[in-house]
Amino acid sequence: MPSPIFNDEGHHTDTFTGRERTRSAFISHRLSVEWATVIRKASLVSVLAATLAAGIGCESRQGAATIQQPDSPAKVPCQSSKVRPLTNRTFEQTPERLAQGRYLVEGIGYCFACHGAPNLKSRGLPPIAGKEGSGFDFTALGYPGQIAPNITPDPETGAGNSTDDMIARAIREGVSHEGCFLDPAIMPYEFYRSMSDEDLAAIIVFIRSIPPVKNALPASAKPTQVVAPYAIPLYAPVPVPDLSTPVKRGAYLVQIGACQWCHTLRDANRQPLPGLEFGGGDLIAYAGGQATSANLTPDPSGISYYDEKQFVRTIRKGRVGAREISPIMPWWFFAHMTDDDLKAIFAYLRTLKPVHHRVDNTEPVSYCRVCRRKHGGGALN
Ligand code: HEC
Ligand code: HEC
Repeated sequence: MPSPIFNDEGHHTDTFTGRERTRSAFISHRLSVEWATVIRKASLVSVLAATLAAGIGCESRQGAATIQQPDSPAKVPCQSSKVRPLTNRTFEQTPERLAQGRYLVEGIGYCFACHGAPNLKSRGLPPIAGKEGSGFDFTALGYPGQIAPNITPDPETGAGNSTDDMIARAIREGVSHEGCFLDPAIMPYEFYRSMSDEDLAAIIVFIRSIPPVKNALPASAKPTQVVAPYAIPLYAPVPVPDLSTPVKRGAYLVQIGACQWCHTLRDANRQPLPGLEFGGGDLIAYAGGQATSANLTPDPSGISYYDEKQFVRTIRKGRVGAREISPIMPWWFFAHMTDDDLKAIFAYLRTLKPVHHRVDNTEPVSYCRVCRRKHGGGALN
């Protein structure tokens, strides 16, 4: 396994549990930086041993003293009074919903980037054909306990026995079918929260229509309580927002595409670092490499040099000029969107407040005075 460099300064201590957390991305085999640190510190074998002994993700730079909660899901009660009771709503299948659901899942939602095995030999890490939605256990890649569940309609190993509202509650409110909190660092539900009821219905109708795949996975070894403040119940309807202009449509797509999940740095409470919205700088690592998220604002240090054509080309090809961009950026999925939607995203990005923050993945990882983290091209600031 390569030994990438990690962003120690990027670690967050979750105030809820005192455990160290990161905003990590978890696209296919992208791993959370805290685990990356664990892996850097020790050989894989001892990592696995330490993990079993101490609970996954508990090891932190600050040492074991900060650990308050072991991560064994068996020991942590999963039900909570904060979880919204389930309703018996169901979503009727219509051709429009099937088509819209497919478009969202395969494009801006990139659900199968995580909920299915990636083809590691293909640029952009597309899902392996026939395994879409069947979940993935990242232990095989050295990241014990990170499990994206099987969401195909298989009744035994998938979501076949989940009700529509169970799936709805998981996607937008961060609660599993069993009533456990999902981890916002590995499933971007805090962004899906803004998804309209109709788009949510379309996604559920579509994932119910995909072929069931039998794929039993171990239980996730995640902390089940760490995320309570982020899994907020939704009781009111979420109407379709105003999508009448490209900028407004782009804003909605950027929200449900969770661009800020990776492109905005956060503090210990998962709040955006003030003044750095969309300013990039998050060094994200996985077994196959690492990359720092780009500054997407129109500042000269961001992507001011882009025009609409270049933006569409970057997303479609996964390249900026001759440079291939990392599959940590889910471009392969975004590339399934229409030109109009990609242009709308670009139109919205153009309205962002410029953030002066240089990020450069062709430069070494180094300390940045602006965000006080280490990232590609940090020393240029
Ligand atoms: C970046 C990776 C990632 C993406 C993208 C993602 N998921 Fe997830 N999802 C996960 C992980 C990991 C979990 C389990 C989290 C946990 O155990 O805390 C999960 C949990 C779920 C669950 C709960 C299943 C259960 O056991 O009840 C559902 C349903 C779900 N995701 C659906 C979706 C849909 C639909 C999309 C696309 C709109 C999506 N996910 C996008 C990683 C992802
Ligand atoms: C899972 C994390 C993640 C998500 C989600 C994500 N990105 Fe990225 N993005 C990255 C990373 C990392 C890079 C740097 C890749 C590289 O340079 O190799 C990047 C690079 C880019 C670039 C190339 C910039 C350049 O010229 O170097 C663009 C454009 C971009 N992202 C736009 C978006 C948009 C728009 C969204 C939401 C629709 C989005 N990204 C969502 C991680 C992410």
